[in-house]
Amino acid sequence: MSLQKMTTKKFIEKKKKGEKIVTITAYDYSMAKIVDECGFDLILVGDSLSQVILGHENTLGVTIDEMIHHTKAVSRGVSNALLVGDMPFLSYKVDIKDAVYNAGRFIQEGGAEAVKVEGGTEILPTVKAIIDADIEVMGHIGLTPQKVYRFGGHLVQGRTVDAAKQLIMDAINLQNAGVFSIVLEGIPWQIAKLVTSIVDIPTIGIGAGQYCDGQIIIIYDMLGIFTEFKPKFVKHFGNVGEAIRNALKAYKDEIITVKYPDIAHSYEYPSEDLSEINDWYENVNIKEEATKLKQNST
Ligand code: KIV
Repeated sequence: MSLQKMTTKKFIEKKKKGEKIVTITAYDYSMAKIVDECGFDLILVGDSLSQVILGHENTLGVTIDEMIHHTKAVSRGVSNALLVGDMPFLSYKVDIKDAVYNAGRFIQEGGAEAVKVEGGTEILPTVKAIIDADIEVMGHIGLTPQKVYRFGGHLVQGRTVDAAKQLIMDAINLQNAGVFSIVLEGIPWQIAKLVTSIVDIPTIGIGAGQYCDGQIIIIYDMLGIFTEFKPKFVKHFGNVGEAIRNALKAYKDEIITVKYPDIAHSYEYPSEDLSEINDWYENVNIKEEATKLKQNST
């Protein structure tokens, strides 16, 4: 597969050409490299790493430093996909100057090409300030997980006329502020379809049905590795968790039964020298020899 570097401009063009956009999360070098080699358009270092990598209950636990640390690792594995860093809780809603600075850290230190922020009309000044600092921004509306306590749980959004209207206005306002794309999370597919038809920039759905311009999913969910919580929209495209368990069990069994490492997985000492070393060992006073070696090395 010959792959080309994705940019935010090409990303927007894909919508104009009617091409579906494929995106996913990644949190480390090795996985990012596999994803990139498979030709994904965008890789998000999502703050979902708070749960799937760090074991927190929700996305509120991960810090900006932890996000930058993982973004750096992912960036080393990505050559073609557009790399987006997800701004975590407390990194962009406390103060606009801090927001711009923290967004800049994702670019300068993390190696990301854009940042993602959660929120609609209420965060427009922040979105504009980040874009004014020449940083590309991806929006994220609907079931935005950083609002989990305000929502009272990870609950589907946009299910009333007022809430649906607000989502549409948020999408239009974010587009007008200059975001290059918007994630639509946890909203009815009919509303996602409507938003997608209204805005010119790509909508990327997660739990928002098939009419979005593209889709995103948490890689550990779709691989069947993170199974503690499975929202309705998650589909397991593989049972990698089970494959990992089987491999670990086989490794353990082969150590106990001394099948691994066998000769094929061991280094060889030249056989002609082996008798010499055995003879030496049998005839030498090993304690004296060790003392001599110690003296020579100091
Ligand atoms: O944190 C994340 O992984 C996300 C995606 C699910 C959109 O925000």
